[in-house]
Amino acid sequence: MSQLSVEGLDVFYGAVHALKGVSIHAEAGEIVTLLGANGAGKTTLLRTISGLVPPKAGRVHFEGRDITRVPAHEIVALGLSQAPEGRMVFANLSVEDNLELGAYRRRDRAGIREDRDAMFALFPRLLERRRQLAGTLSGGEQQMLAIARALMSRPRLVLLDEPSLGIAPLLVRDIFRNIAEINRRGVTVVLVEQNAHMALSIAGRGYVLETGRVVLEDAAAKLVANDQVRAAYLGG
Ligand SMILES: Nc1ncnc2c1ncn2[C@@H]1O[C@H](COP(=O)(O)OP(=O)(O)O)[C@@H](O)[C@H]1O
Ligand SMILES: [Mg+2]
Repeated sequence: MSQLSVEGLDVFYGAVHALKGVSIHAEAGEIVTLLGANGAGKTTLLRTISGLVPPKAGRVHFEGRDITRVPAHEIVALGLSQAPEGRMVFANLSVEDNLELGAYRRRDRAGIREDRDAMFALFPRLLERRRQLAGTLSGGEQQMLAIARALMSRPRLVLLDEPSLGIAPLLVRDIFRNIAEINRRGVTVVLVEQNAHMALSIAGRGYVLETGRVVLEDAAAKLVANDQVRAAYLGG
């Protein structure tokens, strides 16, 4: 049984048919990447898994449980969290308080402190800026904070939506290194990326979405060698 399995999702925004029978799965311990052009439905897929968008049809199972109609905050409590596209940190709260909020369902004070320190070890830039308001961080730092905040709920699976979007190349490498490290610590990662080069370099498998459909699914190494993928996502 897969840790996460998505079967036949159909999602509409009014008349827009954003997901058309999408099925994907993620196995415990792997990094799976979702590639696709703007508007392909990647964010919609993550938001549907997270319980933020209701599907018209289809099922989502996480660790054997049907979470299709489970409210978003309960899905987080079950061990599946998302770092949203566009950062979405709380701009008027400090870095520290943003991290605290990621753990708001937890009651284990000692464990929360331990995880916060682990996040500071993983993202030293956040440690240096722990009392700074999140809104004053650079884009890359806000992205790191969004990822760290998602991890503060101690998820067993994390959904990352374009962690490299709008980030300086130097920081992009840092962020990908950190994602690989998070995965080594046992967290399954579903990674949506426009930066297909970087995503396929750390992922084991990947899917390609086109206008709401999965058109390709393969091992990352196979996708890197695929002519269609090279032409569309890897610059030939
Ligand atoms: N809130 C929304 N209301 C209406 N249409 C939306 C909304 N969000 C996304 N869409 C549409 O759904 C499709 C998929 O969008 P999205 O999931 O954001 O794609 P991606 O993340 O791959 O760029 C697009 O056609 C987009 O315009
Ligand atoms: Mg998107």
